[in-house]
Amino acid sequence: MLSIGHIKFNSPLTLAPMAGISDLPFRMINRSFGCKLAFTEMINAGSLVRKNITTLKNLSTTVDDRPLGVQLLGANPDVIRRAVDIVSEYAFDIIDFNAACPVNKIVSRGEGAGLLMEPLRLQKILKIIVENTDRPVTVKIRSGWDESSVNASETALRAQDAGVKALIIHGRTRLQAYRGKVDYEVIREVKESVQIPVIASGDALSPELIRKLFDETGCDGVAVARGALGNPWIFRETEELLKKGSAPLRPDVYEITQTMKKHLDLNISFHGEERGVMRFRKFFGWYTKGMSVKMLKTRAFHAVTREDMQELIEEVEEDYVSKNRA
Ligand SMILES: Cc1cc2nc3c(=O)[nH]c(=O)nc-3n(C[C@H](O)[C@H](O)[C@H](O)COP(=O)(O)O)c2cc1C
Repeated sequence: MLSIGHIKFNSPLTLAPMAGISDLPFRMINRSFGCKLAFTEMINAGSLVRKNITTLKNLSTTVDDRPLGVQLLGANPDVIRRAVDIVSEYAFDIIDFNAACPVNKIVSRGEGAGLLMEPLRLQKILKIIVENTDRPVTVKIRSGWDESSVNASETALRAQDAGVKALIIHGRTRLQAYRGKVDYEVIREVKESVQIPVIASGDALSPELIRKLFDETGCDGVAVARGALGNPWIFRETEELLKKGSAPLRPDVYEITQTMKKHLDLNISFHGEERGVMRFRKFFGWYTKGMSVKMLKTRAFHAVTREDMQELIEEVEEDYVSKNRA
């Protein structure tokens, strides 16, 4: 059983924060297949304090979108404290802090994974967040800056001292970004160093790889990121693999296309038709991964209206039926 502060979750799986992806429609689709705890994408504390419209939109949630963690990004303690005051007005269950983002623009401002090189500053920020909210605080870190400065256990201990209630560790360095091998050993070391729950992240791409993360690291939970792109079934399948030892069959094409239609509808209700369809284009590719529908994928990148996209989804179904009849 995964617990974070006073909150108990009846699943050890969480939906990891993903910038440009983890909006309300994406979270709701994953929740419909068993995802419990989900996170918003990283919210820039400075933009939030300046009341940037896009940033405020990223805080949108509903009563069904729970339990939910909001993830803050920043490096200025005062700005972060003000951002905590703002998010405290919203119905979030957890406040997560990002010390993991590897993007140049962000680390060059000393934010995200940049904070891994400034453990005292990170600890100070975490303490400020903890002292200014009644919600449990978590932090997302990486194994270290690069291979020669792996310091996740030290960072984790400092986070625990600051009053953080759980940590999420991506078992790659900042330098690795999203490439190369995940370091299971470093995650295990972190788990053995702290008393708070540890949620592992990195190549949680299939039920089997998620089970491997649990087995190799002893972690309390796993955060699913790229594995959920066009594949919300990963939650249902992993739960079954962990409980029964075998994963159920993959969804058939009808379940996939039904889910695509639902996701498209949610996108359009949330973002409006133009933006909703545009944001769905890459999901079209992810949902149809492994299907031989290259032409449809290309056309999806030019779809503009709801009708355009719906027609393409229908064609995925028809294509499958005709191939299986032949
Ligand atoms: C498109 C994309 C956006 C991401 N955005 C965030 C983010 O906003 N905050 C964060 O902490 N991690 C972010 N991540 C990292 C993921 O949460 C996760 O730690 C990472 O992808 C490793 O897991 P995976 O190998 O299973 O995908 C992002 C990853 C991707 C692929």
